Amino acid sequence: MSRLVYVLNGPNLNLLGKREPHIYGVETLADVERACRARANELRLELHFYQSNREYELIDWIHEARGRAGGIVINPAAYTHTSVALLDALNAFEGPVIEVHVSNIHKREEFRHHSYVSLRADGVIAGCGAQGYELALLRLAKLIDQKA
Ligand code: DQA
Repeated sequence: MSRLVYVLNGPNLNLLGKREPHIYGVETLADVERACRARANELRLELHFYQSNREYELIDWIHEARGRAGGIVINPAAYTHTSVALLDALNAFEGPVIEVHVSNIHKREEFRHHSYVSLRADGVIAGCGAQGYELALLRLAKLIDQKA
């Protein structure tokens, strides 16, 4: 099974570490990418790490991952709660999917409690801060190793 993993980040996550630090912490997306790359090296994973504020770009990356990647880590950000299109795209991906949220969405406003992406995700990590991405990579590596 491919050891290529796509780490996809949705809208406003380019402002991670700058917007609402009391909710999302002070680590930037560049910090997250650095930590993911270090962890991926240890786990012998290859990473494609992307962020977009545009729904179609996230969908295009999921399509690109089809038949190519061993797994996807996705923080769909606000699209979590709105996007049937992202759910459909993920349903067309054959490998494991881990959904990540920096904040604990279940402790927040009611509209954040529902996730379309969770209908597809094999695992969900929320409220572990930026470390959630590393935890997601650990889980994906295990799932990929099990299938190897
Ligand atoms: C988020 C939670 C979402 O509800 C929110 O819209 C985000 C970030 C998180 O990482 O905690 O933008 O996905």
